[in-house]
Amino acid sequence: MSTTATFSRGTDLAVIGAAGKTGTAVIAALETADTTPVRRVVHTARQAGDRAVDLETGAGLVDALSGCRGVYFIAPNMHPDEPALFERFLAAVAEAGVDHVVYHSVAWPYTPAMPHHIDKARCEDILHASGVQWTVLQPCAYTENFASVLDGSVDALDVPYDPDAPFSFVALSDVATVAARVLVEGTDIHHGATYELGGPDSVSVRQLCAVAGRSVEIEQVSVPVWMERHGRDLPADTRERLAAMFDFYDDHGFVAGSAVTAALLGRAPARVADLVSSMPRR
Ligand SMILES: NC(=O)c1ccc[n+]([C@@H]2O[C@H](COP(=O)([O-])OP(=O)(O)OC[C@H]3O[C@@H](n4cnc5c(N)ncnc54)[C@H](OP(=O)(O)O)[C@@H]3O)[C@@H](O)[C@H]2O)c1
Repeated sequence: MSTTATFSRGTDLAVIGAAGKTGTAVIAALETADTTPVRRVVHTARQAGDRAVDLETGAGLVDALSGCRGVYFIAPNMHPDEPALFERFLAAVAEAGVDHVVYHSVAWPYTPAMPHHIDKARCEDILHASGVQWTVLQPCAYTENFASVLDGSVDALDVPYDPDAPFSFVALSDVATVAARVLVEGTDIHHGATYELGGPDSVSVRQLCAVAGRSVEIEQVSVPVWMERHGRDLPADTRERLAAMFDFYDDHGFVAGSAVTAALLGRAPARVADLVSSMPRR
């Protein structure tokens, strides 16, 4: 796909998926980093100024993005067809004349055993060929996925994979700080770059619980048992994608380097222990 801008160069920044877990952190980091106006692009408007769009149809996207120089794209978690959403989004980017797309991917995108990773690898490929200027961020698993352990609000955890498998958990706040830097600095520095964002520790879920300083009872359960307990209301496709991810974690964990994270932060990335000490305890 080639892009043809139809509007003049914009000034604002936008975040797609702004109300979600990742988007909330990216918006907060942008508001700290810079004074450039930032548009919250959401599915369901919640506050004044929110731009409501539908990634399934493209409704509202061109209006939401017109006048923007850069946009951060965060896909809904475990979507059944992220590349289709992304193609639709890129068509709107071209029509709105946005210069810079920053795509929120994942570490190890080309991992055939995990369909939701493969979909992100396909999105990266689509982005490379799109004609827009681009940057890709590839975060590892967020430390905050275990927020309930870190803040002491749970004392038992059922894990559908090996609780001793290694993970390079990265602080979502660090990922968001990098995202804000890349968006604000823009294409002169970051066009064509792919940044893997792992955290500095290689720790298992069992070790993470120990670092949190709580006595957490860890029960390793099978994927079907976990689904029965936690996934009954999920769509079948989401259950399949999660099951594939849990099987992969069981075999390999999920590790990624932290050198790029540190370089882009200009400091050491947060360790698990740093998040524990910064979180209010329950
Ligand atoms: N968790 C991790 O460790 C990790 C690591 C690396 C990468 N990631 C990736 O990060 C991404 C975001 O994850 P997350 O947990 O932040 O997701 P999330 O909290 O579920 O947020 C996704 C957002 O997508 C929006 N959305 C859903 N359907 C939409 C539609 N049809 N049109 C427009 N917007 C729509 C929702 O908007 P509303 O709230 O307005 O409905 C929601 O706020 C995922 O792609 C995931 O693979 C996650």
